[in-house]
Amino acid sequence: MAAKRERRRLSDAQIDWVVDAYTRGAVAEEQMSALAMAICMGGMDHAEIARWTDAMIRSGERMDLSGLGRPTADKHSTGGVGDKITLPLAPLVAAFGVGVPQLSGRGLGHTGGTLDKLESIPGWRADLTGGQIMSMLGPHGPGAVICAAGPGLAPADRRLYALRDTTGTVPCIPLIASSIMSKKIAEGAGALVLDVKVGSGAFMKDLDGARELARTMVALGADAGVAVRALLTDMSTPLGLTAGNALEVREAVEVLSGAGPDDVVGLTLALAAEMLDAAGRPVGPDELRAALADGRAMDVWREMIRRQGGDPDAPLPVAPETDTLTAPADGVLVTLDALAVGVAAWRLGAGRARRGDPVQAGAGVEMHAKPGDAVRAGQPLLTLHTADPERFARARRALDGAVVVAGPDSPEAARARERAGAGVVLERLAPGAGA
Ligand code: URA
Repeated sequence: MAAKRERRRLSDAQIDWVVDAYTRGAVAEEQMSALAMAICMGGMDHAEIARWTDAMIRSGERMDLSGLGRPTADKHSTGGVGDKITLPLAPLVAAFGVGVPQLSGRGLGHTGGTLDKLESIPGWRADLTGGQIMSMLGPHGPGAVICAAGPGLAPADRRLYALRDTTGTVPCIPLIASSIMSKKIAEGAGALVLDVKVGSGAFMKDLDGARELARTMVALGADAGVAVRALLTDMSTPLGLTAGNALEVREAVEVLSGAGPDDVVGLTLALAAEMLDAAGRPVGPDELRAALADGRAMDVWREMIRRQGGDPDAPLPVAPETDTLTAPADGVLVTLDALAVGVAAWRLGAGRARRGDPVQAGAGVEMHAKPGDAVRAGQPLLTLHTADPERFARARRALDGAVVVAGPDSPEAARARERAGAGVVLERLAPGAGA
């Protein structure tokens, strides 16, 4: 610890010792939190981050997917509002013969968790054994699985992430990169595509920070022999038209039916193309689109849901209470802030404040316009959904100043239209691109 306090490098032996001893409970929480804070203040060089990542992988088991007889690819998003992309993406990629082991988490704070979304499907179960995961990915399974990561994968990260959450040491690039990559490398997929979010609803509020995080993770993947690519994508406004568990599943199913909002479809196609390419099975955009339109991806989805106890035809839960926010004037919607919508959805009951809290399946925010769209005074812009109407006032407060309509000829309107037309993918990074 003294070495980091004095801004010196940690040796390989020091890193191996501290990660192992912390996992065994031989390093106290207060000692580890001091070290985490020293790392946040002093940073780590690439060799230190690589060793730290490796030590966290070695703290648990590593899945071996080599016997599956098909290439595998995984995706990780750094988290955003309305980010339901895993739901259509995993079955779409699997429809082209690439196995997708998508070990996911539950949400904390304003970003929703993939498992919380899927748990709104009646009967669906997140917990699978290692054998069940392999059978989902094997020749007689759907080829994709979305389930909870077991406690055996990178247990050092599990402890450290919980500690960081309570000690102000989450927003720190060396610790974020090693946390994400240790879990993803331990999952054993041959290829990994990272969706690094940038903007108000993301960890990384600006492009420079997101670029550095992406470069660090791409380089860690290369060190571990995993083909990693990263897309930097916009999270200044929510993805799609829904934020909240069942609302997002509904939208994902629309995408799997060949419809759905343009930004969700566009990002699903972009990430699928990267995953398939990184796995050595490149597929063009027309063919990917066709697999959404003709039901191939939907067939995988239905099988995937059924095999985990869910009923893909069951009606999704709907919140009994709604409240509507309308446009204050004619014009163009120029701001619909991602963080504010995420916090509103959370306050409506879609998210949790503490690990283990229940979430409401039907709660969330439905959006009726996106930045760049023309709107009329009085037209509904947002519908808030919850089971508890007393939550509306706090959710509305989260949205104060977050929804802005400007005149159709204003510079703000021109910028919003231009930004909407550019799509959500801001940049692409692959190994060798300055990593
Ligand atoms: N997600 C993770 O898994 N770890 C972090 O440190 C941050 C986001």
